[in-house]
Amino acid sequence: MPGWEELERLCQQCRRCSLYKSRKNLVFGTGNKNADLMFIGEGPGREEDETGIPFVGRSGRLLNKILEAVEIKREDVYIANIVKCRPPGNRNPLEEEKEACLPFLRYQVALVRPRIIVCLGSVAARSIIDKDYRITKDHGKWIERKGYYLTATYHPSALLRVPARKKEAWEDFKKIKEKLVEPGPG
Ligand code: URA
Repeated sequence: MPGWEELERLCQQCRRCSLYKSRKNLVFGTGNKNADLMFIGEGPGREEDETGIPFVGRSGRLLNKILEAVEIKREDVYIANIVKCRPPGNRNPLEEEKEACLPFLRYQVALVRPRIIVCLGSVAARSIIDKDYRITKDHGKWIERKGYYLTATYHPSALLRVPARKKEAWEDFKKIKEKLVEPGPG
């Protein structure tokens, strides 16, 4: 298995799908490489493509606000996306793009070894938790798999579109915080 440096180098050189052609910057992932909590989004938007950092645009600012509200420090978590290059015009990533990129994310997860993985939105939840995941029905539920606690909540961009969902997301984040401070086994 590659270490961090090798993994980032492989990602920077990647041509496994065509998104590398139109990106400005690869958005590798950021945060605490020993985090207990990892967030997985969908893919970079315009501002992420420009900076190479995940969740720095409008959605990112909302995510920061939510994290602050539940007293989770952004620098304590690790944040990555299903695809590391921006899909043109912010379209959803295609099946072949997600498949091409997922092995890199799996290495990242294996390197971080978080206790908790939170998928932001249905694209991430369907890639990571279950291909038939229904975010409106299943958000906030926990499953345990391979030693990880997994859950999903609404993508911040969905909360910007439909503010009425913020209350449900807030409940999810409170549960995430509880899970994070819960003592581990033994
Ligand atoms: N939306 C995502 O899913 N990921 C980002 O990094 C930014 C916006």
